[in-house]
Amino acid sequence: MENEGPVPYLSFFRSTPQLYAFVGSPCYLRGAVCAPPGVLPVQLTRYLALDALHIAGIRAAKACCVLPAATGLTMTLVFLALRQLRPAGRYVVWSRIDQKSCFKAIGASGLTPLVVELKALEGSDALGTDMDGMAAAIEQVGAENVLCICTTTSTFAPRVPDSVDEVAVLAARLEVPHVINNAYGLQCSKCCHLIEQACRRGRVDAFVQSTDKNFLVPVGGAIVAAAKPALVDKISQIYPGRASMSPLLDLLMTLLSLGAAGWKRLLQERKDNAAWFQDRFAKAAERQGLRLLSCPANKISFVCDLNPLAKEMGKADVDHLTFLGSALFTRRVSGPRVVLCSQPAASSCPEAPAADVEAEAEERPQSLKLKGRYRKPLTARPSRATAPTRTSTRVATSRPRAP
Ligand SMILES: Cc1ncc(COP(=O)(O)O)c(C=O)c1O
Repeated sequence: MENEGPVPYLSFFRSTPQLYAFVGSPCYLRGAVCAPPGVLPVQLTRYLALDALHIAGIRAAKACCVLPAATGLTMTLVFLALRQLRPAGRYVVWSRIDQKSCFKAIGASGLTPLVVELKALEGSDALGTDMDGMAAAIEQVGAENVLCICTTTSTFAPRVPDSVDEVAVLAARLEVPHVINNAYGLQCSKCCHLIEQACRRGRVDAFVQSTDKNFLVPVGGAIVAAAKPALVDKISQIYPGRASMSPLLDLLMTLLSLGAAGWKRLLQERKDNAAWFQDRFAKAAERQGLRLLSCPANKISFVCDLNPLAKEMGKADVDHLTFLGSALFTRRVSGPRVVLCSQPAASSCPEAPAADVEAEAEERPQSLKLKGRYRKPLTARPSRATAPTRTSTRVATSRPRAP
């Protein structure tokens, strides 16, 4: 559940014309993101962001910087800064997450990802970190050639947060840097607790969180934090140029207008809302004969098994289930995604001639009627070349995609 949209802060600016004049002055602009210490708003934003991290539960954070780039690009900057500190590192050992940004960030930094697949966790439907797989991947290329291990806390169910505390111990033992993608995990006490434990028990070089996913500001900023300032300082140094100040100002003004009490209240509110939503979602699913998958460690994203619906629709129509995602979206449910995991009808018979596939498409209904007023015209034809090949059907409240 992503929260987007600015917190109103104009009243704050109107009541503080001196700061407004200062912010708009050329002297201030000269000192933008990579400013020397002493540029007041930049430093103030850092201190307030660090305090917000502490309040959220990561007391081990000792330094942070706010960058005018979203999470993915900020991960790229972290990798590039690490490369300067560890020139031999060419590989990033990456615990798989089906979201493309981090994967792209590895490629954009000229590095090679070593993707470690997840493992099914016993006693639930969840997928979690394969610790043996992580160790094996590092061993395979040699620890000295690994730039870093990259883990993720905030992820799409049925994946649960990586065991970042255990990975931190592994990273310390093998002397390999460890970077955590905490994109929208700052709002979740479970993710923050995991990072706190990781910093205390093992090695964490940096963890990155989005400002818009955690602080209700517009898209375009991220906080890089660490238990030791070395990497954070390096990232501030390598940031080229002065643009743009807006994400920093958005965060500064939002934190000032929220205050510590407002931030704590928001964190509690989100926790209560998530529990309420999960309960209502489970009941609504049950009424349709569906089941929410059990992923107790994921406190942000929820997933519902659509297999019973898929069976009802029959093989020919199963592809159309993805339409549920757009139907939910038009009903203001942000971030829903239907993942078709069953073999689509078109590719279930790989030897069938192309003409058969065309004929099958002709027989499909021209529109799909769902409960309510909505009717979706169906225009797409099945393509053998792009047919997915997974094995069950699910709807999640976020957007799992294969990298
Ligand atoms: C786990 C994770 N990492 C990275 C991103 C990318 O975030 P951004 O758009 O801020 O780059 C997302 C976006 O949903 C995400 O879920």
